[in-house]
Amino acid sequence: MSQDIPVPAPRIERFERLAYGMFIHWGVYSQLGRGEWVMNREQIPVAEYTKLKDTFTAADFDGRALARIAKNAGMTYITLTTRHHDGFSLYDTRGLSDFDAPHSAAGRDLIADFAEGCRAEGIVPFFYHTTLDWRWQSHSCDEARFNEYLDFLHQSVEVLCTHYGPIGGLWFDGDWSRRTADWKHDRLYRTIRRLQPEAMIINNTGIGNEGKVSHPDVDSVTFEQSMPKALDRRGHAKYIAGEMCQTMNSHWGIGASDYSFKSPANIIENLAGCRKVGANYLLNVGPTATGAIPEYEAAALAVAGRWAARNAVPVYAGKPTGIACQGRDFVLAADGKLYWFVHDLRIAGHGQVTVSVGGAGPRAAQGFQQPIRQVRWLDNGESLAFAQNPAAGVATVNFTGYPYGTNLVVRVAEIELA
Ligand code: GLC
Repeated sequence: MSQDIPVPAPRIERFERLAYGMFIHWGVYSQLGRGEWVMNREQIPVAEYTKLKDTFTAADFDGRALARIAKNAGMTYITLTTRHHDGFSLYDTRGLSDFDAPHSAAGRDLIADFAEGCRAEGIVPFFYHTTLDWRWQSHSCDEARFNEYLDFLHQSVEVLCTHYGPIGGLWFDGDWSRRTADWKHDRLYRTIRRLQPEAMIINNTGIGNEGKVSHPDVDSVTFEQSMPKALDRRGHAKYIAGEMCQTMNSHWGIGASDYSFKSPANIIENLAGCRKVGANYLLNVGPTATGAIPEYEAAALAVAGRWAARNAVPVYAGKPTGIACQGRDFVLAADGKLYWFVHDLRIAGHGQVTVSVGGAGPRAAQGFQQPIRQVRWLDNGESLAFAQNPAAGVATVNFTGYPYGTNLVVRVAEIELA
């Protein structure tokens, strides 16, 4: 088998540079505040559930405002649930279904608002679309009905690919509900390539099947709720990207009584952990009944966004290297430089003020192929002493602690090569 790594297609290369995106789970279920699976978990009858559209005003839903929150968070794209498993579409299905935003109290096409708002802020819109549909019982219906459903599904995707301008990609979810079925992927993906040639095709393989390639047309594999692993691309015909999607607490759709939120520090570490292996990080928010991002979520994202902005070059353009570090540290390469992501570094303060003194000192890593000219902290430019054994490819850097008054959670050192 060849050891060559295939060259990524331009859309896949662009996707990797997007690096960090916002996932949004929002729909009529958000009014109940018990997650996006509430219809299924509480066995709400279809007729009763359908009434939720009559109170779904989307009064606070503003595509541009969402895009601004994402931008402020350092996110470059948003993947929004255009339709989830409950079958409600945030877009105008143009006659395919009455269970859509124009037929709800909102009375408008929310995906048009979303796509326009994203573009106005330079954010790339991605469309999540379910393939599992509880209204059609698509997970259990007979073959004839399933094929009828697939026609409806594919026509729905065609609507999304036709009326909202160029999109970053389609993100499908639900094929795991019927693993052995013929989902007619060739037909669906051909339609997407024809109408949206630059769109990424992503199809969630679900929990327990992280990183699996389900079809040759898939452009990025998914890691649902688990840190991505490095993808071994040697000898493969196609370069495929990777993306981890993750909830901010324990639900995708808003859980009004779910307090298990991630902190900005968790978000920073997870973003770093994704970039370590070259994967994107798609972090979810669950807007309120009316479509606003909850305050805590926006605030936590903004803090992590400051970290991303300070470390922009390696965070967005950094590629994994073969350099082996200790612990959670790793080194990325970008624009001819190397970037050492230093974890577990403490504040170099006074012992009676800062409890967490420690972490500073020499750290060695192996795999440096070129001589180093200079090492400095990216945040304050402070030069760091280093020693190198070129024959062994080992470099040791004497990392200083955080100056009192700062703690960036993961601190990045820039390495200039001679
Ligand atoms: C799961 C869930 C779904 C959620 C998705 C996001 O597949 O069924 O509710 O949208 O994960 O990755």
